[in-house]
Amino acid sequence: SPSVQEPLRRVLVTGGAGYIGSHVVFSLQETKRYKVVSIDNHHNSHSKALDHVAKIARDALLPDASERDRDSAEIDAQVCDLTSPAQVRKVFEKYGKGGIWGVIHIAAYKAVGESTEIPLTYYANNVSATINLLQIMSEFDCTRMVYSSSATVYGTPPIIPIPETTRLEAHSPYGKTKIMCETLLEDLCNAEPTRWRALSLRYFNPAGAHPSGQIGEEPIGRPGNLLPLLAHMAVGRVKDDKLKVFGNDYPTPDGTCVRDYLHVLDLARGHLLALDALAPDSHVFDNCPTEARYKAYNLGKGKGLSVLQIVEAMRKATGYDYKYEIIGRRKGDVPDLTADPSLAEKELGFNAPQDLETMCRDLWNWQIKHPHGYEDVVPVKSLDS
Ligand code: WQD
Repeated sequence: SPSVQEPLRRVLVTGGAGYIGSHVVFSLQETKRYKVVSIDNHHNSHSKALDHVAKIARDALLPDASERDRDSAEIDAQVCDLTSPAQVRKVFEKYGKGGIWGVIHIAAYKAVGESTEIPLTYYANNVSATINLLQIMSEFDCTRMVYSSSATVYGTPPIIPIPETTRLEAHSPYGKTKIMCETLLEDLCNAEPTRWRALSLRYFNPAGAHPSGQIGEEPIGRPGNLLPLLAHMAVGRVKDDKLKVFGNDYPTPDGTCVRDYLHVLDLARGHLLALDALAPDSHVFDNCPTEARYKAYNLGKGKGLSVLQIVEAMRKATGYDYKYEIIGRRKGDVPDLTADPSLAEKELGFNAPQDLETMCRDLWNWQIKHPHGYEDVVPVKSLDS
């Protein structure tokens, strides 16, 4: 990792205003070693999120903070649509060749069900946009990428917990876009082994929020994912009187699907470890089977929890008396996605220590502080710390 004397490394985060992105931006600033540029088209995010992140970083500055530390607390946040090469090139032109040290590429559409209805939109936004980005990165001598992939690339995995060596198969256009982008990244690193370095991070199920309650998950419209939906039910944003549980006839302990939930901040900090692993002095590629400096890692806790276990944990965290009804399975769901995180733990030093109770408590703290998400009339200047 860069020594304290080195200048701040400028890192571009795509999707920086989103749920994962804003926590990754926070984690970059927490180290005071990076200068953040964020681009986002706000398809599923709010521009205010980064004001909140910048406020957390500024509040953390000591009164006698150095100019360098103050510099690391500011974010260059730009609205940019990755499917437009002109818009992406403008971002890189601002900093010139070599001006951006690396890219953490998070921006993507991610709803499995939706991807089966509008596959072309998913291929354009997730795959073509990634190709646009990589071509422009190469033009500007920016050849390091941490790529946001997903456990969905494992389809219905034969082995639980899932190792990275599991063959990749996707059951949805969304999952296929993730496999395609991992593949094109690996091919690029194979073609130019002395120039490109990239890591794909296969996210399991991120949950929770920054403990300050100032940033969190704020999906546009009705939440599709379990935890934000439970939070919206408890805070009254969703009027459902019962949670619909999508099937309890799976081959799992209580019949409902099992997922590997990890705290979003632990996930975000994993990106810093991956970024550091792209530095010239890193040894993470030493035992690569080919010359290509490309690897994929699972980011999970290695602990599976069922839907009903999540409901009970949220009942405790919120005090809300959840009722639920078992309905049919949701298309595309698989019984169990639990990570084997040992490779990331061993080679990146990754770990996800925060437990379910903390995830639910931090999620609820965000939700009660922002019952209407970032649209709450809470001007940034008056944010409590
Ligand atoms: C969790 C479990 C549902 C809602 C999703 C994306 C995936 C990844 C992570 C991007 C499942 C059940 C849910 C409800 C329910 N995102 N459920 N009733 O499906 O594991 O993964 O987020 O990479 O691509 O698909 O998460 O939160 O949607 O569902 O019973 O109203 O909760 O069936 O078993 P999932 P989820």
